[in-house]
Amino acid sequence: MPGLVIVGAQWGDEGKGKIVDLLAAGATTIVRFQGGNNAGHTIVRDGEEFKFHLIPSGILYEDKTCVIGNGVVVDPRVLLGEIDGLRRAGVGVGNLRLSANAHLIMPYHVLLDTAGETKLGKLSIGTTRRGIGPCYADKALRLGIRVQDLLDEKILRTKIRAALEPKQQALRELSVLRRKRRKEAGEEAKPLPNGGEEPDPRLDLHGMVEEHISFGHRLEPHIADTAKLCWDALDNDETVIFEGAQATLLDLDHGTYPFVTSSNPIAGAATVGAGIGPTDIGEVWGVAKAYATRVGAGPFPTELHDEVGERMVDQGHEFGTTTGRRRRCGWMDLVALRYAVRLNRLDALAITKLDVLRGLGPLRVAVRYRSKEGAVLDSFPYHQSILHSATPEYEELPGFDEDIGDCRKPADLPQAARDFLAYVAEFAGVPVKLVGVGPARDQVVWMD
Ligand code: GDP
Ligand code: IMO
Ligand code: MG
Repeated sequence: MPGLVIVGAQWGDEGKGKIVDLLAAGATTIVRFQGGNNAGHTIVRDGEEFKFHLIPSGILYEDKTCVIGNGVVVDPRVLLGEIDGLRRAGVGVGNLRLSANAHLIMPYHVLLDTAGETKLGKLSIGTTRRGIGPCYADKALRLGIRVQDLLDEKILRTKIRAALEPKQQALRELSVLRRKRRKEAGEEAKPLPNGGEEPDPRLDLHGMVEEHISFGHRLEPHIADTAKLCWDALDNDETVIFEGAQATLLDLDHGTYPFVTSSNPIAGAATVGAGIGPTDIGEVWGVAKAYATRVGAGPFPTELHDEVGERMVDQGHEFGTTTGRRRRCGWMDLVALRYAVRLNRLDALAITKLDVLRGLGPLRVAVRYRSKEGAVLDSFPYHQSILHSATPEYEELPGFDEDIGDCRKPADLPQAARDFLAYVAEFAGVPVKLVGVGPARDQVVWMD
């Protein structure tokens, strides 16, 4: 198989990192194609836990090339931190390649993300505040700083100056607004020493250029023409895995806008974000939990606010890898899953965290929604007001109480677990090929 794309089929944190690490055994190259360090991908190997935000989940193999593609937004400080962390853990990063065309998350993007969320108040998206949205916005505005700019001080200075000016203006306005709000709330506004706005040291042009030139020196050995690298591997009939971050329902175009991320995590985006053609993709796999979670705001029809939801949080350790936020939990949503199957044209599903459903029976899966007006909705509604008020209708399936952490083949699984998987596959219209029964690398069942 040439190109294999692996994407999240729900709202993120499905266990993509673990599945990519597992399937990477049969590949030569693993490529991240979108998102940034809003992602947090966990791999548990030999009892040791690794969390990656930018580095592809194939990095633990010494002989695989790991690529950060042009579609990724890269915070160089975070990337260097990850590289240092891996080196300390004795993992080599000599095979890590970084696209010269990838855009950089600059300090002002992070400040703008937080400021934007604060300004939205109750309407906030609940972003990871890592500067993702503002960075992609600058890319579209053609005010972005790219990895290759780190290698030329003159160009870097010119570009940062051009990009910085409108940010300073926007941040100044936001800080005035914040001071006004504080005053209205009766809080004492701190007098500023210069009588006006204190310049934020993080927005100093000179300091920013100096710092980024030094990042460039450190990253230079990794910078490459990564599209060509993918073509060479594909033309050589090697398997290349394209690792999605975030997930289908967080897609900027097809997700629950505006409660989405600022990139396209669906499979089609692998072409743009890595620089390959659609026919380079041979297979697409979706990863979904046996239940559902979401971090941040936005519609989540099957969300539970009861004891079962609490148990999902506890049993599934549902706290964000990147921000530590508690994940909202609910039953598996097959209406949304079928939407993800079609949008990504999935060939197969990997169902993770089946072990977490132990003792939560009877198990429920949403098979349709009902609108506020009582209409039956068999497919995922495109209209946001309908989705916001839609209530799920469930099919109830028998649960299981056995510990399935040691199951390694379908016959080891309790009948109820097998029936659950068969129901999901039948409804989604694609086979379930892989099932996660625990966080460790070997805690999987390959289905027949
Ligand atoms: P990603 O963002 O899709 O890579 O997923 P995260 O790493 O953010 O979150 C998934 C969490 O579930 C991680 O802590 C994984 O170690 C863990 N995990 C993955 N697969 C399984 C599984 O089958 N069972 C259990 N119990 N945990 C799993
Ligand atoms: P992985 O790759 C889960 C969510 C945020 C927020 C929305 C927008 O680990 O599955 P952003 O910072 O991207 O502007 O935030 O998207 N979000 C994720 N949720 N998993 C992720 O990544 C996410 N990346 C972003 O919580 O609701
Ligand atoms: Mg995650």
